[in-house]
Amino acid sequence: NWGFFELVNHGIPPEMMDTIERMTKGHYKKCMEQRFRELVVSKGLEYVQKEVHDLDWESTFHLKHLPESNISQISDLDDDYRKVMKEFAVKLEKLAEQLLDLLCENLGLEKGYLKKAFYGSNGPTFGTKVSNYPPCPKPDLIKGLRAHTDAGGIILLFQDDKVSGLQLLKDGQWVDVPPMHHSIVVNLGDQLEVITNGKYKSVLHRVVAQTDGNRMSIASFYNPSTDAVIYPAPALVEREEEEAGKGTYPKFVFEDYMKLR
Ligand code: OGA
Ligand code: NI
Repeated sequence: NWGFFELVNHGIPPEMMDTIERMTKGHYKKCMEQRFRELVVSKGLEYVQKEVHDLDWESTFHLKHLPESNISQISDLDDDYRKVMKEFAVKLEKLAEQLLDLLCENLGLEKGYLKKAFYGSNGPTFGTKVSNYPPCPKPDLIKGLRAHTDAGGIILLFQDDKVSGLQLLKDGQWVDVPPMHHSIVVNLGDQLEVITNGKYKSVLHRVVAQTDGNRMSIASFYNPSTDAVIYPAPALVEREEEEAGKGTYPKFVFEDYMKLR
């Protein structure tokens, strides 16, 4: 009903999460903060008077895990940070696959259906976006991250344990997704809305930066292979719907969807 849930007892060690949060904050201070400040100054963002529609108040970098890892090529990561992010990604990948099978069970699809639907010829694409949302003087005029749905499959988010900011849209209202220590926030992207034939929705969400406090978030995106063909699971398309030839979602290649988007 919400398109989001917070997962606890997920088996990822809390000590690992604490280490990652600490290192992510340290990395931001050491390698990202100065650049962000310069960007803010160069664009005059501190003094905006009108709503900004073409920028987000966030500082990010991206890691790729599947089909191929790029972690060894990211130059400004300390070795211990790099190592723990790699281990974390392996655990998240397993967790995403476990969750996909639980979704299958809930939907009455055979076990492995969703994993297979994502597989294409190279297996899933899996990556992580590491973000910081620094304190923002005008959070009503510049969003930390503007409202969007996630384009891909299943998203596992490790968010700051204290500083809030993530909101989802529910019945036309923005609702906070509060920090819950050591939880993983899970939501579904557009591809799962299509495959489930709308039984599960890809819900709009956004980040509102705080005027005080820097919010960290680590969002990992378990997505289909670029060449996976995405279409509603036949078992989830009602016969009447099919006969009328209406209502259901189209069939397309994931990469084409991403280009269009
Ligand atoms: C995203 C996203 C939320 C967050 O990157 O798509 O919704 O809390 N991130 O960073
Ligand atoms: Ni998102």
